[in-house]
Amino acid sequence: MVPLPNAQVTVRAPAKVNLLLEVGPRRDDGFHDLVTVFQALSLYEEVTAAPAAEFSVTVEGVDGTDVADVPLDGTNLALRAARLLAERGGVDEAVALHVRKGVPVAGGMAGGSADAAAALVACDALWGLHAGLDALAELGAELGSDVPFGLHGRTAVGTGRGTRLAPVLTDATFSWVLVPGARGLSTPAVYAECDRLRAAGQVPAPTAQAGDESRLRAVEAALRSGDPAQLGAALANDLQAPACSLAPELAGTLAAGCAAGALAGVVSGSGPTVALLAASAAEAERIAGELAAELPGGARVRTATGPVPGARVLEAVAVPGHRRDGGGR
Ligand code: C5P
Repeated sequence: MVPLPNAQVTVRAPAKVNLLLEVGPRRDDGFHDLVTVFQALSLYEEVTAAPAAEFSVTVEGVDGTDVADVPLDGTNLALRAARLLAERGGVDEAVALHVRKGVPVAGGMAGGSADAAAALVACDALWGLHAGLDALAELGAELGSDVPFGLHGRTAVGTGRGTRLAPVLTDATFSWVLVPGARGLSTPAVYAECDRLRAAGQVPAPTAQAGDESRLRAVEAALRSGDPAQLGAALANDLQAPACSLAPELAGTLAAGCAAGALAGVVSGSGPTVALLAASAAEAERIAGELAAELPGGARVRTATGPVPGARVLEAVAVPGHRRDGGGR
């Protein structure tokens, strides 16, 4: 029998915020073409994979993250990722996965996608597949539109469903305050509300396919300048109006963030997490403290910085007597 190269692997993958989210018309397959700019933030999911007789997953919340709504059955994204990689990689092994969640659940910050990205990297290392980032990203796109970005991390422009990525180089680090919503929002429901509001003429028609790249150019220029005030002025999310339509309290959170001194605020992805951009890390801490005291559920307010790298191995425990990376050669 060929020995397993690793006895246990732990991988960390980041949350994301969309600095820009332009949503095109609904496609025939139900998805929407996007022009988006992702930034990976220092809120993390950690997935540990260990060999087991059958596939299973357990979940634990860290820093007060509520995990009550995370499925533990076959729909869990980390589990689906592990199974998909086993199937495509021709691996006849199962894993027990343990997920430590630091990203708000159903919050528009791609926590579930980060789990899938982390599980792909962890199982790839555990099984010694060396599949490579591009192949894992291709598999990841089958699991969710944000999974490829969870693998790549940093800052990137996403097009198509959001899975076609081009890195954006920026030297600057930005400081964020994240305010999770009181309840999760379903991503399909927010996209459907966007379609409804557009059909009713209540929000502007799609811009993503109109060839108008001015919002993208403004975000890219702000990232190059490193000036948080310039980035704050360029933040834009076509899903913000639909998210606020479904969860009207978000408008109050955005206003409270700006009143507390944030440069700008935006709903993160499909929400309901509100991302507030601060002038500095110290400002982010001050604003977070103020909002924690002021808002209902304020204990869940977090600070983070971005960009950070994508899914990375934190720890790989070698099988005694075997090299970690080479199956004991
Ligand atoms: O790919 P993901 O699982 O994140 O998508 C969840 C849902 O969000 C999709 O079923 C679809 O309703 C919506 N979506 C979309 N267009 C995208 C990404 C997601 O309409 N580009």
